Amino acid sequence: MRAIKEIVTAEAVREGAGVIVHRPFPTREIDNIDPFLLLDHMGPNDYAPGTAKGFPDHPHRGFETVSYMLEGALEHRDSAGNKGIIAAGDVQWMTAGAGVVHSEMPAESFRESGGRLNGFQLWVNLPKSDKMTAPRYQDTLAANIPIYESEDKSVWVKVIAGSSMGKQAVISTHIPILYLHVILQPGASFSQAVPLAHTALAYVISGQGKFAEKKVEADQLVIFSNHDNGADSDVVTFTAEGNQALSVLLIAGEPINEPIARYGPFVMNYPAEIKQALVDYQEGRMGQINVF
Ligand code: FE2
Repeated sequence: MRAIKEIVTAEAVREGAGVIVHRPFPTREIDNIDPFLLLDHMGPNDYAPGTAKGFPDHPHRGFETVSYMLEGALEHRDSAGNKGIIAAGDVQWMTAGAGVVHSEMPAESFRESGGRLNGFQLWVNLPKSDKMTAPRYQDTLAANIPIYESEDKSVWVKVIAGSSMGKQAVISTHIPILYLHVILQPGASFSQAVPLAHTALAYVISGQGKFAEKKVEADQLVIFSNHDNGADSDVVTFTAEGNQALSVLLIAGEPINEPIARYGPFVMNYPAEIKQALVDYQEGRMGQINVF
């Protein structure tokens, strides 16, 4: 069984136009967990009709943003003229590459009705060779994302990236990434082999569980250790404790092991490339969002 290196509790942070997010990293102590740059749990926030907030126009360069909605709906618009709604269960895997300007705002019908906004954003770094690649979107509806469910319905696994329980994700990634949403009924366990050289993280969305003999609760991130015990791969295991379901994001990936220079929405290898990104953005080379 893979041991735990550290358990981090998410910090509440105000982002975008005033959305409260719970952020296990980056923090003052943890800049990144290679190849991951950020994990935000947006909400859950309950909005009265007409009050839902979002993330107005902003640029990105040098990495990927992955949005996964659990509740509510965000409308996405960008400088390439793309527009779409990410609703509950959907995933948008956006490769910013050389640069995009986009916005993620509450969908009109959701803003009007109000309700609960609950979702995630993960930032996945790109290797130097892919940082200036052309932007790409993989908008994936919930219905197209493979799900495994055990016969007794105690184990539910949504395979967003990589493969698990005999299911292969439809989203493709630049470097090997595993992204699973696992829901366990009380007492149920889940195991997943993750190569030891890969970073492995588990974020508890709700419920409580036992991870390598340690009790972990909602809003906590488990960082598994990468110690080499001589095995080719090692298994991440967790069990739902208490009387409610345990909902977990299991995220793993191959470290890139390159220098990181980051400034807000730009993540490159060297400071000079960050300066260039700022100039390119200010001079409009990442485009702008047209008013529809
Ligand atoms: Fe963004």
